[in-house]
Amino acid sequence: MGLGSRVDRFMQNEQLTTQALGTLLRSLGYLTQNWIDSDDPLACLIPSGEQACSEQRGLDDLFLHGDEIRVDNAREALQSTELLDDLAAAGLVMIRAGLVQATITIVPVMGYLIATEHPLNTRVGVVLPHDYLSSYSTMLARYVRLRSPRGVAIDVGSGTGIQSMVLGESATRVLACDIDLSCCDRTRTTAWLNNRDVEVIQSDLLDTCPEGVSVVVSNPPWRIMPATIPYPARGSRVGVGWDGLDLVRRLVSSLPGRLSEQAECHLIFEAPSNSGPPSILEELLGLVGPHGFGIEAEIVRRTPIESVIRRSLQVVREYTGDEELADHDASLRACYRQLQTDALSLILLTLTRSPSVAGRIDLRK
Ligand SMILES: C[S@@+](CC[C@H](N)C(=O)[O-])C[C@H]1O[C@@H](n2cnc3c(N)ncnc32)[C@H](O)[C@@H]1O
Repeated sequence: MGLGSRVDRFMQNEQLTTQALGTLLRSLGYLTQNWIDSDDPLACLIPSGEQACSEQRGLDDLFLHGDEIRVDNAREALQSTELLDDLAAAGLVMIRAGLVQATITIVPVMGYLIATEHPLNTRVGVVLPHDYLSSYSTMLARYVRLRSPRGVAIDVGSGTGIQSMVLGESATRVLACDIDLSCCDRTRTTAWLNNRDVEVIQSDLLDTCPEGVSVVVSNPPWRIMPATIPYPARGSRVGVGWDGLDLVRRLVSSLPGRLSEQAECHLIFEAPSNSGPPSILEELLGLVGPHGFGIEAEIVRRTPIESVIRRSLQVVREYTGDEELADHDASLRACYRQLQTDALSLILLTLTRSPSVAGRIDLRK
């Protein structure tokens, strides 16, 4: 058998095993726990100790909290001897010295099993998935679900694949792209767990994606963070440029050449703003307004810079275990000072060629 077909067979085995795991997790009620409707998808990563049955507790320990469990407990929880071996062969669990550990975390969100990177168990016991599935991910996914986009849709910076799942509810074809190959793998795993067709490609924004797409959805990294500060999954979590928004600018400038006539693009990100609408909106309109696009935007909330800095330092503390963060605090403050603003606005943004907004900004309440 040639290398190509061996790789194909391996991929097929991995796909079938992952689908089997998805079916099993669903049948055991993993998706129906009460935390699935929480706005913060990571709330369920904090162990509650209140799980319903022993099978579920075993599966939660394995796939949610990243704990090692004994082989016999894993077999019992999975209700199968073969599945555990298949999962090990597919690289989804590791078996060592009679103990089993999962290599991915599976978070139940909005009715889907979402694969994230294996969590980091940090010194203070907080779990941070690398792909940065956050409350912004679910906010965007709920918004996309409400708009029920049709046609060919593309999830840009797909990471965990949550946007691809929601796009698949209404779109005829879903493409997902991410610059990071491990994120492409994660999107593929999520698609398999939920038995969904998603074509995953590695791409720098839309660079290698097809033309004629009707919907683009993205929650790109926007956070600014000096390179000197240790920060988890920098590529997924840190934006580019003086205000972190260069990826947004680049994605938006590429839209006119890629999107079909009736197309829409939905984004979520934070941007500097004093009183009044964030200046990035005028700037983005300047890029695509001449091509017939308009902007519908909702300012979801404004967060004072002081809280943004506090939260960022908390992540650094959780990640590094360092308690003394005075130097990082000073560099973060210098980084944010250049924005000359006291707050960041969280913006839910649609760029559309709809005649009702063409060439202007419609600020929704
Ligand atoms: C904030 S995460 C969002 C992940 C996912 N969409 C979600 O909602 O959970 C941003 C994602 O963008 C990806 N990314 C960063 N720069 C990119 C680029 N230039 N082109 C494509 N993807 C990129 C990261 O690898 C990461 O997966």
